[in-house]
Amino acid sequence: MPTLNVLFGTESGNSEKLASSIELTAKEITKIAGDKAKFDVVRKNLKDVKVDDLASMENIIVVISTWGEGDPPGSCEKFCKDLFKASSPSLAGKNYAVLAMGDKSYADFCGCGRRVDEALAKLGASSILARKDFDLDFAAHYENWAVELFTNLTPKLV
Ligand SMILES: Cc1cc2nc3c(=O)[nH]c(=O)nc-3n(C[C@H](O)[C@H](O)[C@H](O)COP(=O)(O)O)c2cc1C
Repeated sequence: MPTLNVLFGTESGNSEKLASSIELTAKEITKIAGDKAKFDVVRKNLKDVKVDDLASMENIIVVISTWGEGDPPGSCEKFCKDLFKASSPSLAGKNYAVLAMGDKSYADFCGCGRRVDEALAKLGASSILARKDFDLDFAAHYENWAVELFTNLTPKLV
C-alpha cells in the first residue's frame, strides 16, 4: 500500500497544526474513497528525519516555516543544512509538494520553504503541486490548498 509522508518543520506549532490537518484530510479521503484511494499516512517532525530517509518515501509533503532572517526552524536546522547541500540520494520517481509558512512582513518571505522546494527538485523529485507560500492568514487558505493537493495526489496513491 502506498504511504503519504507528511513532514513538518516548526518553531511555534503552526506547521505542525497544518501537518495534522493534512493527515486528517488524508484519512478522511481513504475512508470515503474505499478501494479508489488506499494509502497509509505517516506524519513526522523533520527533526527526526535524515536526508537519506527521503529515498524510501514515495510521496512527500513538507510543511515548513521560516525563522530568523530566512532561516529554518531551529529544531530542523540540521535536516535543512544537509538537504540544501545534498547531491544524493536521487529522488527520481518520488512525488512531492511543499507548503511554506511565513510572514510577508519579513524580507525573506517563506525563504526556507523555497529552498526546501528547490533542493527536492534538484534531487530529482517530481512536484505534484507548485509550492504555496502561506502568510499568517494560513488557516483561511488551507482548505483550497488541500483540495488542489489531494486532487493531484490521490490518483497517484491508488
Ligand atoms: C522572530 C521571527 C522571525 C521570523 N522570520 C521570518 C522570515 O524570515 N521569513 C518569513 O517568511 N517568516 C518569518 N517569520 C514568521 C513565521 O515563519 C510564521 O509565524 C510561521 O507561521 C511560523 O510557523 P511555525 O509555528 O510552524 O514555526 C518569523 C517569525 C518570528 C517570530
